[in-house]
Amino acid sequence: MSYQTLLTQLENGIFTVTINRPDKLNALNKDVFNDLDEMLHHVQSNHQIKSVIITGAGNKAFVAGADITEFGNLSIEEGKKLAKRGQDIFNRIENNNKPIIAAVNGFALGGGCELAMACHFRIASENAKFGQPEVNLGLIPGYGGTQRLTQLIGKGRSIELLISANIIDAATALQYGLVNYVVPQDELLNKAKTLLENINTKAPLAVAACIKAANTVWNENKNGFDEEIELFGNCFGTEDMKEGSSAFLEKRKAIFTGK
Ligand code: COA
Repeated sequence: MSYQTLLTQLENGIFTVTINRPDKLNALNKDVFNDLDEMLHHVQSNHQIKSVIITGAGNKAFVAGADITEFGNLSIEEGKKLAKRGQDIFNRIENNNKPIIAAVNGFALGGGCELAMACHFRIASENAKFGQPEVNLGLIPGYGGTQRLTQLIGKGRSIELLISANIIDAATALQYGLVNYVVPQDELLNKAKTLLENINTKAPLAVAACIKAANTVWNENKNGFDEEIELFGNCFGTEDMKEGSSAFLEKRKAIFTGK
């Protein structure tokens, strides 16, 4: 599989996806969206991939936002179409049944912050910076940022960041709960891989069900507690649940097959 704007590597079940436009601080243009779209299909269909890391090329930026050069003369309808395209892709990341984490290696601004927030959780390097500076451009976030930022850090902090265009550093992002860990830049990918190596030993269907149940908190059409009952019950129909329980009782390590 080859992409115009992504570098990919599969190692030990961990698929590392690097957005590769470092001279434009990895800004999200049409090509990046097309490649992310393709990449998500690949993640779904390739059974060797157990989990995914998304990061940015270079040591300066994760993603510095949507590509502002593509905003030029968009009409209202074209603006809505662009937001819909971004939201569709980011929703697929958020609802992916394989864990997808962001390794934020520098600026995560605008669409970059939105991309990181669509991932299941985030790890940042010490030089990472987060913000939604769209109001500087007479815009608002369009790829889910107003919703996910509010979900992740609460309304007061979210609205302050949205309307001030303030940029926060990694330590503040950690304090706000926007990221789970902050590590030196040269340890970022190793930290992400270590976390996923552990997660990849767990029962894949149970991992997928945890993601689905947690995401239901923000689904107005579903009751999360009912969804949890459903997903919990379904676990009893899996081979992995039988294997996990037997392994515990037999005092051995479980071997999960994802069935
Ligand atoms: N869209 C398109 N190009 C972008 C970009 C974006 N969102 N962010 C950075 N770039 C380009 C710059 O235009 C520049 O290209 P050039 O070398 O051809 O002139 C290159 O990336 C390097 O960026 P530069 O601004 O020179 O780096 P810097 O270190 O001085 O500043 C930032 C870094 C992140 C503070 C600055 O690039 C910035 O503010 N970017 C826009 C952030 C933003 O508003 N994002 C939300 C978009 S909705």
